[in-house]
Amino acid sequence: MSVPDRPEVVFIPGDGIGPEVMPPAIEAIDAAVRGAYGGARALRWTEAWAGKRAMAEHGSPLPEPTLAAIRRARVALKGPLETPVGGGIRSLNVALRKILDLYACVRPVRYYPGVPSPMRHPERVDLVLFRENTEDVYAGYEWQEGTPEALRVIRFLNQEMACSIPEDSGVGIKPMSVTGSKRLIRMAIRYALDRGRRSVTLVHKGNIMKYTEGAFRRWGYEVAAREFSEHTVTEAELRGREHGSDYDGVTPPGAVVVNDRIADAMFQELILRPERYDVLALSNLNGDYMSDAAAALVGGLGLAPGANLGDEYAVFEATHGTAPDIAGQDRANPGSLILSGAMMLRHLGWEEAADRLEAAVARVLAARRLTPDLAPRVPGAEQLGTRAFGRAVAAEAA
Ligand code: NAI
Repeated sequence: MSVPDRPEVVFIPGDGIGPEVMPPAIEAIDAAVRGAYGGARALRWTEAWAGKRAMAEHGSPLPEPTLAAIRRARVALKGPLETPVGGGIRSLNVALRKILDLYACVRPVRYYPGVPSPMRHPERVDLVLFRENTEDVYAGYEWQEGTPEALRVIRFLNQEMACSIPEDSGVGIKPMSVTGSKRLIRMAIRYALDRGRRSVTLVHKGNIMKYTEGAFRRWGYEVAAREFSEHTVTEAELRGREHGSDYDGVTPPGAVVVNDRIADAMFQELILRPERYDVLALSNLNGDYMSDAAAALVGGLGLAPGANLGDEYAVFEATHGTAPDIAGQDRANPGSLILSGAMMLRHLGWEEAADRLEAAVARVLAARRLTPDLAPRVPGAEQLGTRAFGRAVAAEAA
C-alpha cells in the first residue's frame, strides 16, 4: 500500500460514549503524528455517521455516503455502534464487516504496567488474536424448535443423511470454508513473519467437529506447508510428536512455529502459560470468547484495541460497546480507541508515530493516571475523566 503524506482517514464517532472517546483519541493520534514527523505528515480526518444518529439523520444505520467514504479512504476509525431497533439489520458491526469483506478481526493483547489485572504475572501476556470474521456462526443458519422449517430440516437429515435428531430440537448450521479459513490463517502467518513473532497457534474444537473446526486446523497446516514452508516449522516437527504440549516458546532463529490447541485447553493455557503463545488464529466463535477473555487478563475492554481487516479496507475500532450506563458523564476510557489508532498508524506504515502513541499511553498508565473504570482498583491512582486522559496522552505523545 502506498500512503501519501496526508492520507484521508474516515472517523465514525458512533453512539453512546463514542462521541466522547473519539475527540480525545483524535487529539492523541494527531499529537503522535506531529511529534514523529513535525508537519511533514498529517491525517486528513473525514467524519461519517453510522448507528443511531445515522438512522435519525439518514433513515439508515449504515448510510451509503458512509460506506462510500470508507471505500474512498480505505481506512477508518470507528467508535461503538448501537444497532437501532427496527433498522432491519441484526448487528451493524457484522453488516459492516460483511459489506466491506473485513474477514479478520485482529486484537493485540498486551499488558501496560499500572493497570489492575487479575493475573499474578500479566506482563507475560503479549498476544495477537486473528479471529475469522465472516463465517462459522456469523454465517450460520438456524431453525427454531417446533417450526415447520425445523421439522423439515430434521426429517431430511434423519431420513436422508442417517442422522438421529430429536424432532423437538432447534437446529443450527455453521459453515466454514477452505477459502475463508485459509485467508485468515494466511494473514496471521504473514503478520507473524512481518513482525518477528515466534509462533502461530491454530485454535479449534476439532476433536468434536472434524469437518469444520478440525478442518480449520488441517487447512492451517496446509497453508503453512504450501505457502510458508521456508519460514515455518510445526511443533510436531520440532518435538517429533503430535500435540506436543512442551513447546516452550523458544523458536528456532528466523522461523515461526505453527502449532494447534483445542479451544478449551487454550483457555487454560491463556491463564497458566500465556508466555508460550504469540499469534493465535481462531475460527469465529472461539475467537469471540477468547478475545474478550484475553483482554480481561490485562485490564479489560476499556483498553483493548481492535481492527477489522480485509484485502481492500481496514476499520480500526474500539472493542467495547456504547456503555449506555456511563455515557455523557466524562467517565469512559478512551484507551481502547487511542490504541486502535496506534494500530491504524502501523497499518499506514507510520511506525514511529505508532510507537510514540503507545509509549505515551504506557507512560500515563504507569503514572497511575487512570479513568474511573480502572482507578478505584489501584491504590494511589489519580482519577482522570475521558477528556483529561486524552489530553494527558496527547501531551506525552507530542
Ligand atoms: P459495553 O461494552 O457497552 O459495556 C459493558 C460494560 O463495560 C459497561 O459496564 C460499561 O460501562 C463498561 N465499558 C465499556 N466500555 C468502556 C470504556 N471505554 N470505559 C469504561 N467503561 C467501559 O457492552 P454492552 O452493555 O453489552 O453493550 C451496549 C451496547 O453496545 C449494545 O447496544 C451493543 O449492541 C453495543 N455494542 C457495540 C459494539 C461495537 O460497536 N463494536 C461492541 C459491543 C457492544
